[in-house]
Amino acid sequence: MQIDVVTLFPGMLEGMVGASIVGRARQAGICEIRLHDLRTWGEGRWRKVDDRPYGGGPGMVIRCEPVYRALEAVLQRPVGPGTPPVSQPPRTRALLLTPQGRRLDQPLVRELARAERLVLLCGRYEGFDERIRRGLGLEEVSIGDYVLAGGEAAAAVVIEAVVRLLPGALGHEGSAEDESFADGTLEYPQYTRPPVFRSMAVPEVLRSGDHQAVERWRRAQALERTRARRPDLLREGGADAGGRREVDDGGSEA
Ligand SMILES: C[S@@+](CC[C@H](N)C(=O)[O-])C[C@H]1O[C@@H](n2cnc3c(N)ncnc32)[C@H](O)[C@@H]1O
Repeated sequence: MQIDVVTLFPGMLEGMVGASIVGRARQAGICEIRLHDLRTWGEGRWRKVDDRPYGGGPGMVIRCEPVYRALEAVLQRPVGPGTPPVSQPPRTRALLLTPQGRRLDQPLVRELARAERLVLLCGRYEGFDERIRRGLGLEEVSIGDYVLAGGEAAAAVVIEAVVRLLPGALGHEGSAEDESFADGTLEYPQYTRPPVFRSMAVPEVLRSGDHQAVERWRRAQALERTRARRPDLLREGGADAGGRREVDDGGSEA
C-alpha cells in the first residue's frame, strides 16, 4: 500500500511512521509512506497557504490553490470539477481529515486497509476553504467528536490502525482477528506471568491446558464485557445470538 500525507507539519508524523509496527512494515516493503509539506505548493516568499475568512471571524482558512496543486503533484493528474474524484474506492481512498466527517471505526479501517493507495489531507487553523470539499471528491473522516488543532494526530491514528491490518504487518497474524471490534465485541481479558500478583490470581481455566474451555471462557468474557461497556455494539448485531446465550448462562470475570 502507498500512503501519501499532505500536511503543514510533516515533522509531527516522521517519528510515528518510523517506529514500531508502522516502521517495520515500511522496512519490510509492506507499505510506503510519503509525507508532503503543503507549503511546497504555497504562495510567495513565505509559501503562504492560508488567508482570512470571507465574512470575517476569527482565525485563518486554508486556501484552495495550494491544496489542489499538492494533490495534482501527488496524484500526477488534474483534479477538481470536471475530473474524476480524488477518492476512488476501493483502490484509492483519499481522506480529508475533519471533525465534520464520518466517524472512523474498525469497519472503515478494514475497508481502508483493502485499498492500494491512501491519500490523507490534514487541515490546520480554522480548516479548509469549502471549495476543497466541493471540488475534489475526498472522503471526509473524523477520528471522534472533539476538535484537534490539526489533522496530523488524526492521520497518525488512521495510518496506525490501517497498517497493522496489512498482511504481514503484525508478527502474529491471528492477533488482528481476535481483538476488540474484530467480530463486533470487545476483546476478552488477557493475563501473563506471574500466576498470582498481589493476591490477584490468573483465572484457573487459562492455566488448565483445556483449549476448548479457554475458548468458551474467552468468548463469554468478551460478550459480558461488551454488554457491560458497549451494549451498542451488540445491538448493532456484531455478536451472534449463541454467544449471547453464553453470557446469560454465566461465565463471570475472575
Ligand atoms: C481546529 S480544526 C478546524 C475545525 C473547524 N473549524 C470546525 O469547526 O469544523 C483544524 C484541523 O484539525 C483537523 N481535525 C480537528 N479535529 C479533528 C477530528 N476530530 N478528526 C479529524 N481531523 C480533525 C482537521 O484537519 C481540521 O481542518
